Amino acid sequence: MTSPRPLIAGNWKMNGLSPALAEARAVADGVGVTTARVAICPPAILIHRMVQALAGSTVLIGGQDHHWDDAGAFTGDTSAAMLADAGAQLVILGHSERRAGYRESDDVVGRKVLAALRAGLEPIVCVGETLEQRQAGEALNIVRSQVRGSLPDALAGTAFSVAYEPVWAIGTGLTPTTPEIEEVHQAIRSTLIDMFGEAARAVPILYGGSVKPGNAAEILHASEVGGALVGGASLKAEDFLGIIRAV
Ligand code: 13P
Repeated sequence: MTSPRPLIAGNWKMNGLSPALAEARAVADGVGVTTARVAICPPAILIHRMVQALAGSTVLIGGQDHHWDDAGAFTGDTSAAMLADAGAQLVILGHSERRAGYRESDDVVGRKVLAALRAGLEPIVCVGETLEQRQAGEALNIVRSQVRGSLPDALAGTAFSVAYEPVWAIGTGLTPTTPEIEEVHQAIRSTLIDMFGEAARAVPILYGGSVKPGNAAEILHASEVGGALVGGASLKAEDFLGIIRAV
């Protein structure tokens, strides 16, 4: 069975003005030979300029969200096709900051995944429990149900990844223990196999939440961890490269 090529993706969130393109270029220049696929997901408005800034590099560029419809009267929104047209190849969908801040349900995330597929974007679908849910012993149930609810059948046979991002680990400096990460990743893997069959063993399951150069090696070498989705530490080339080198 193919084991997935690791994916290290940087989620810049709502950070980055034109001068930040130099950080992305420094990542491209420093990435060297790696078995990982490396992606940066800047704010949508920077995608086109980042494509130009990274010309000739292997670093992939992704979006952070898009609308579930292909076009229409949705003031202020961006479609999947627009991200692809700007040069994005991947897109983060269902991030907990969108689930919590914009009330995105599993159903909405699933519709966005379908829109990504129509536009030829490779989705990175995020799931993860809150601290209250973990303390109530519900982490595995929550994550399994988010995977089932957010990943439409149409993903069968396409390239996509799932990112496990415990909400309480995002931007806090806290991380689950390695056995806790492995337990959730194993639950995601078995759910994916239930849904998509044995081919789902090739789906990378990323970990996200306070990944730094100092903890990346332990996390990335944990069982069933197929990469990382990195927030804060992806904003500085040196830190992001430190994580990439830990693969
Ligand atoms: P931090 O790496 O800043 O904790 O953010 C994780 C995240 O939300 C990536 O999508």
